[in-house]
Amino acid sequence: MRKTLVAPSILSADFSKLGQEIRDVEKAGADWIHVDVMDGHFVPNITIGPLVVKSIRPVTGLPLDVHLMIREPEKYIEPFAKAGSDIITFHSEIETDPKEVIKLIRYFKKKVGVSIKPKTELKEIEAILPMVDMVLIMTVEPGFGGQEFIFDCLPKIEELRSRFRKDIEIDGGVNAETAKEAVAKGANILVAGNYVFSSKDYAKAIGSLKV
Ligand code: DX5
Ligand code: ZN
Repeated sequence: MRKTLVAPSILSADFSKLGQEIRDVEKAGADWIHVDVMDGHFVPNITIGPLVVKSIRPVTGLPLDVHLMIREPEKYIEPFAKAGSDIITFHSEIETDPKEVIKLIRYFKKKVGVSIKPKTELKEIEAILPMVDMVLIMTVEPGFGGQEFIFDCLPKIEELRSRFRKDIEIDGGVNAETAKEAVAKGANILVAGNYVFSSKDYAKAIGSLKV
């Protein structure tokens, strides 16, 4: 059995004390820190840029898992890489050739993830599967934290796991119940924003996702 890793999404953290929030989830058992980058074009929301990644880099030893929900990610790989990202995930629904984006992320020696939205089918990423380290299957429409898990995404996790041995991450609407279902289908990295940061006990919340 693969170990389940939990990546709290700082989108739901208290930004007025972001450093402390990150130290707290690290202490509470987080495995990665998930950073949601939104540009107001690919998704209707604007969030975090490379400057924030740079300032949280010295706060934690955990891998920074940077999820780029942006158009033209090729323009921003270098600043996010240099800011201290460990894993850089881009979306398959962009206009740029994904192979070019992968090449750039590899040039900066970072791990590569590709993400698909709930309505995007696995066949869209088939050709690049051998080139990536991780597939991020969105389980909500990207753009906002605190949405309901879309159960229709579960068969996609199962289908991918039947022929993909590397990391499968899910993102959106994760709680103790939905985590269990997704892990049963083969997901091994769970992003959780609202569920972790709105709880009073981060260790309990993170622990409940790992069973
Ligand atoms: C959604 C983001 C997610 C989101 C998860 O666009 O990619 O990482 O913040 O948040 P919850 O766990 O609150 O659904
Ligand atoms: Zn995300």
